[in-house]
Amino acid sequence: MSQRLSGRVALITGASRGIGAAVARLFAREGAHVILMARSKAGLEEVDDQIRAAGGEATLMPFDLTKIDDLEALGPTILERFGKLDIFVANAGVLGTLTPVSHSKMKDWKDTWTTNVLANVQMIRTLEPLLKASDAGRAMVVGSGIGLNPTAFWGEYGVSKSAAMFLFQTWAEETRQTNLRVNVVRPGIVDTEMLAKAYPGGAQGIGKKLRTPDEVAPMFLELALPSCERHGELAEPEDYGL
Ligand SMILES: NC(=O)c1ccc[n+]([C@@H]2O[C@H](COP(=O)([O-])OP(=O)(O)OC[C@H]3O[C@@H](n4cnc5c(N)ncnc54)[C@H](OP(=O)(O)O)[C@@H]3O)[C@@H](O)[C@H]2O)c1
Repeated sequence: MSQRLSGRVALITGASRGIGAAVARLFAREGAHVILMARSKAGLEEVDDQIRAAGGEATLMPFDLTKIDDLEALGPTILERFGKLDIFVANAGVLGTLTPVSHSKMKDWKDTWTTNVLANVQMIRTLEPLLKASDAGRAMVVGSGIGLNPTAFWGEYGVSKSAAMFLFQTWAEETRQTNLRVNVVRPGIVDTEMLAKAYPGGAQGIGKKLRTPDEVAPMFLELALPSCERHGELAEPEDYGL
């Protein structure tokens, strides 16, 4: 079968492990040149090794997304280096602290908000011209059911994910008349480091189907394809609830 992302350039944040790493491996297998962003150089190198072993191509971009001001130069840098950007996957995120709002610390709220929301605002600012210039620009953010359903102790994370989803849905309204397709992915419960941090005793007891990162990656591929016509949607597994 021919590769479905052949010739496309894709930026994936939070690509050093978990869902972002799985999306990067799949996009590279489908022929995209993937730009991998995260703080951990070792994590990025491990994903790069896996991609190269499968015959794919990646560029590593170790970067801390909380350095918001430095992000401004990202769009021009990608343009200079790659000549274009076709796909943006806003996947990086942090869990923050699980605690009652009344016990929470302002510093924790600011840290979570910066990574999960403000960094994505800055990404949109710097990447939109490139994505609009692409013949089929595609962008998606990873949302969460916790951002839709208020959940005790998850305020810091839930409020930030709710805002991130709202941000991309607002961006979708602003870009409806363009070639750019913007969507939100709600992947369900995925077996990653973040999940292990949220449920140190194991997530089996929460009564929802547990998926691997590789199992959810195809949802991102569908939204990245030049043929994708979905826009401003919330994509979730068909058997979400299970
Ligand atoms: N797992 C789930 O069940 C689930 C469900 C719904 C939504 N999500 C969302 O899915 C996304 C991926 O989560 P995951 O479960 O795969 O978690 P994860 O394994 O903890 O991965 C998070 C990724 O984000 C990166 N990251 C965090 N802070 C960063 C920063 N300041 N700068 C750059 N990169 C940063 C991490 O890389 P470094 O640490 O190397 O920087 C890592 O690659 C998140 O947005 C999460 O909210 C997850």
